[in-house]
Amino acid sequence: MAHPIPKPFKWSNEFEVFYANLDDEHRGLFDGIFACGEANTAENYGALVEKVKTHFANEEKMMSSSNYANFATHKQAHDEFVGKCGGLSAPLSDDNLIYLQQWLVDHIKGIDFKYKGKLN
Ligand SMILES: [Fe+2]
Ligand SMILES: [Fe+2]
Repeated sequence: MAHPIPKPFKWSNEFEVFYANLDDEHRGLFDGIFACGEANTAENYGALVEKVKTHFANEEKMMSSSNYANFATHKQAHDEFVGKCGGLSAPLSDDNLIYLQQWLVDHIKGIDFKYKGKLN
């Protein structure tokens, strides 16, 4: 299901998962994609991909240590996205920029929201 893409592409509390570290990282991912829209450079895209990987690792650590039931399918969604990101490079096309925006919005609201209240 496609959720609306915020314009400008910035985090707001409609994306809150109520774990401060994860909300901070999500805000950083919005900023990273926003930055690619402002300056569509390899430097900005590389920084975004690093932030994505760091965030996924941290989120997965929390899910794993909380024995979160949907860990495996959630990690699979992360791995697929990392693979997709690896196939892209700057300058990103408009379609790919929108793909990244839509993926993040849909992932947070559709997948990340399922762990709300279930992580330690
Ligand atoms: Fe996630
Ligand atoms: Fe996340």
